Amino acid sequence: MSRADLIQPSATMKISERAKQLRKEGKSVIDMGLGEPDFTTPRHIIESACHALKDGKTFYAPAQGIPELREAIADKARTENNIPADPDNVIVTSGAKYAIYEAMQALIENGDEVILLEPAWVSYEAAVLLAGGKPVFVKHSPDFRDAEIEDFITERTKMIVVNSPNNPIGVVYTKEFMKKVCDLAKDNNLYVMSDEVYEKIIFDGKHYSIASFDGMFERTITVNAFSKTYAMTGWRLGYAIAEKEIIAKMRKIQSHSISSPTTFVQYAGISALRGDQSSVDEMVNEFRRRRDILAKGLRELGFEFAPPDGAFYIFMNTGIDSDEFSRRFLEEHYVAVTPGSGFGVSYNSWVRLSYATSTENILEMLSRLEEFLRVLK
Ligand SMILES: Cc1ncc(COP(=O)(O)O)c(C=O)c1O
Repeated sequence: MSRADLIQPSATMKISERAKQLRKEGKSVIDMGLGEPDFTTPRHIIESACHALKDGKTFYAPAQGIPELREAIADKARTENNIPADPDNVIVTSGAKYAIYEAMQALIENGDEVILLEPAWVSYEAAVLLAGGKPVFVKHSPDFRDAEIEDFITERTKMIVVNSPNNPIGVVYTKEFMKKVCDLAKDNNLYVMSDEVYEKIIFDGKHYSIASFDGMFERTITVNAFSKTYAMTGWRLGYAIAEKEIIAKMRKIQSHSISSPTTFVQYAGISALRGDQSSVDEMVNEFRRRRDILAKGLRELGFEFAPPDGAFYIFMNTGIDSDEFSRRFLEEHYVAVTPGSGFGVSYNSWVRLSYATSTENILEMLSRLEEFLRVLK
């Protein structure tokens, strides 16, 4: 069996393809399945990419990323995240997804166990399997604030993956929970992969970078990206911060796979980090407004959902099989949502709603949901 046979196509893609097909047939489809901001990349970032192109930044870049961007990332990590990073601790990657893939390839050996908190974002499991590792799913507590990770650590455990704010549940983990993860990692000599791609999109709670906790820098791979914060999903620009030895391994893999992320895109990344940040505040305020409308509407319809502290998702319990719910909501009411079955086996009646869509669409979705509920009852 080849490694590719171990993994499934992304669950989110299947729904979105069917939604596109229905839209082509003229149906008024509302897509609540999307995992990307519905904003355009800020103007100054686009201009900086155009300028870089005109300025001849069209050649291969160093495998680890251009030094100016690595420096901007290290500065950001030190000042905003309290992570003691130098540019040598940074590798620029093609999106956070490739940083995750590369880190797994670099650190996971055949049979190593990697703890994933369930429900888990779809690509962690695939990245672990492609590296020859074994994903170990640990369910969240009923309030989604905790998980009994300690009960699942074995001699083969190598890494814990933490994602805060979380996709798909929207939770921002507390300092106490993050500290618990750090203590478990230190006591059991484990790595932590801290996926912080939604760090700026927080409405309730506070962001804590795992690598800023005492004694954690050495054992943490911090993953981040420009995709969500700066509405740059299609640019494919992300990064990892870790110990130099880990970065060196990832650099080797990168040099033999993609060579480096696109050169002129990296220059745009410098403008994103060093330039005006007001677009981020505007986007977050808009997401907060939509979150409030959606959460109120769902509450009024009687749904139970995880605390929507951040990111742009609400994870809710439909009370029926999530594949059936998603299929019928799309086929009968033209609303696309992501079934919980895509995020692990334990949340089969839950679905993820993305509010990276207009208020108008959210209100229309709520009224279609009310109609759908009448049929379901
Ligand atoms: C939790 C999480 N990590 C990583 C990614 C991948 O980000 P990128 O588009 O930068 O590869 C996503 C994108 O959906 C995500 O939700």
